Amino acid sequence: MKTETTTGTQTITRKEMIGLLNEDLAGEYQAIIAYTVYSQVLKGAAYTDIAGELELHAAEELQHAIKIAKQVDYLGGMPAVAPKPVKTSNDPVEMLRADLENERTTVGRYRERIRQAEAMGEFALSETLRGIIIQEQDHEIDLSAALGIAVPPAISPPVGDK
Ligand SMILES: [Fe+2]
Ligand SMILES: [Fe+2]
Repeated sequence: MKTETTTGTQTITRKEMIGLLNEDLAGEYQAIIAYTVYSQVLKGAAYTDIAGELELHAAEELQHAIKIAKQVDYLGGMPAVAPKPVKTSNDPVEMLRADLENERTTVGRYRERIRQAEAMGEFALSETLRGIIIQEQDHEIDLSAALGIAVPPAISPPVGDK
C-alpha cells in the first residue's frame, strides 16, 4: 500500500525498492557492456579522445553496479544478473547517441530513486545514489561534448513506473 507524502513523493515498500534497484542494476550492466565495446570499436581521429573517456566510463559503471548490488543485498534482496539489451552499431554518432539516451534515462531514474530513498528514511542509500548521479551527469557532459550538442534534459520515468 503506497501513500502520498506532502512533497508528492510516493512512499514505496522495501520490496518495491529492491525491484527498482535491480532494474537500475540491469542498466548499470548494460552501461558496462556498451562502454566496454564502444570504447574499442569507435574509429577515427575525431573519436580518439572520447574513446578513451568511454573506457573510464566503463570502469565507473562497474563501481556503480557494485554499489547498487550492495544496496540490494542490504535491503534483503538478491541482486539481478541480467543486463538490459545493448544496442550495436558501426556508426560512431549512433553509438554515442545510444550512450547518451541511456545516461539520460539513468539520471531520470536515479533522481526519482533518491526521492524514494529519502521518503523511506534510507539515507545511506540516497547518499550512495547521489554519488552515482554526479558521475552519470559527467558521462552526459562527455558524450554531449563529443556530439557537439548541449546536454539534453534527463528522461523522467513514466508515471506509474515503480
Ligand atoms: Fe552508472
Ligand atoms: Fe553513466
